[in-house]
Amino acid sequence: MNKHILITGGAGFIGSHVVRRFVTNYPDYQIVNFDTLTYAGNLENIKDIEKSSNYTFVKGDICDAAAVEKVLHDFQIDTIIHLAAESHVDRSITDPLAFVRTNVLGTATLLNEAKKYWNGNYDGKLFYHVSTDEVYGSLGETGFFYEDTSYDPRSPYSASKAGSDHLVMAFYHTYHMPVVISNCSNNYGPNHFPEKLIPLSINNILNKKALPIYGKGENVRDWLYVIDHASAIDVILHKGKIGDTYNVGGHNEWTNIDLIKLLCKLMDEKLGNAAGISEQLISFVKDRAGHDLRYAIDATKLKDELGWVPSVTFEEGLSKTIDWYLENKDWLEQVTSGNYVNYYKSLYGA
Ligand code: NAD
Ligand code: DAU
Repeated sequence: MNKHILITGGAGFIGSHVVRRFVTNYPDYQIVNFDTLTYAGNLENIKDIEKSSNYTFVKGDICDAAAVEKVLHDFQIDTIIHLAAESHVDRSITDPLAFVRTNVLGTATLLNEAKKYWNGNYDGKLFYHVSTDEVYGSLGETGFFYEDTSYDPRSPYSASKAGSDHLVMAFYHTYHMPVVISNCSNNYGPNHFPEKLIPLSINNILNKKALPIYGKGENVRDWLYVIDHASAIDVILHKGKIGDTYNVGGHNEWTNIDLIKLLCKLMDEKLGNAAGISEQLISFVKDRAGHDLRYAIDATKLKDELGWVPSVTFEEGLSKTIDWYLENKDWLEQVTSGNYVNYYKSLYGA
């Protein structure tokens, strides 16, 4: 069946992989990428598919109701995959209101405009909200996040994402809008902005700069290759139950320090360095405020009900990721130099 899909945040890290997957795998679907191009949005991420006949980019802000209304009408959108967000926890600690604006107000605006545009005719419609495991809070040394784990967000980022999840469910219960939510663990892979742990460390190893590890490096994250997240989104969009939530993760827990040591080892091998060279860059720094100790997703429901499993092991995914960064040093240079932000300003005027 033909679909007209609006993907918000499609120039970002995960969004670009979702856009590529849908444009490539579903030539009958019209894919509209709606993104305001913040520092994290980069059209280079999807340069390979930008000329596809089933793809259009529209620069716009999800908080701008008129712009959202226009794009829904112009492209007769029946499906929304909502990824646009402020996504970096450390930035949310220094500027919480930016996160409330985009993640809460932006999601509310998108929901409200979809409700107005669909006007109660929900046949063939879907609002798919992409969220995070951080809404569940922080685990101790054991246990997992399940779909029915109570929300307990502890950073401005996770609180703003929890707020957006609640709004999505409110539109389901109150207006019967067809919605689905997925809550995913930490992603890694190509096109990850080098402010997050893995790409920051790759970039710093390449530039022989210190690798900042917060606290003692004992915090645990559950890592999933971004292409596997995109495949989970595909499966949930097509087979997920309306009004349900699905946890997405790869049962792949690492303490930050063990992860960075593995990364250093792989980087040394690939760069032809003497063993142990990159590890010398590790530097323990002041801990993140309110730093969640451990995240771990139980993705059994997604496996048992929809048949989704990750396609790569962590070692394979990390190796592919490093290779991508080594082959795309220009990309790293561009996004760290700010040149691309100036380029978009010259293209779009703002
Ligand atoms: P990202 O920061 O790389 O990209 C966000 C994108 O949204 C950018 O292209 C940016 O330009 C765009 N954007 C920001 N504000 C906007 C606005 N007001 N209007 C339109 N576009 C706007 O983020 P990401 O890491 O790709 O995350 C995508 C989504 O997935 C987010 O909702 C995030 O909460 C969620 N998520 C991320 C992870 C992860 O590990 N990165 C894990 C689980 C869930
Ligand atoms: O769990 C899903 C979430 O994962 C997503 O919702 C977020 O959008 C995404 O940014 C990510 O959040 P984290 O805070 O877990 O990711 P980050 O890469 O910022 O940090 C990973 C871990 O590494 C965390 O314990 C903090 C630590 N860290 C991070 C940075 C940037 C360091 O020790 N040093 C660093 O320099």
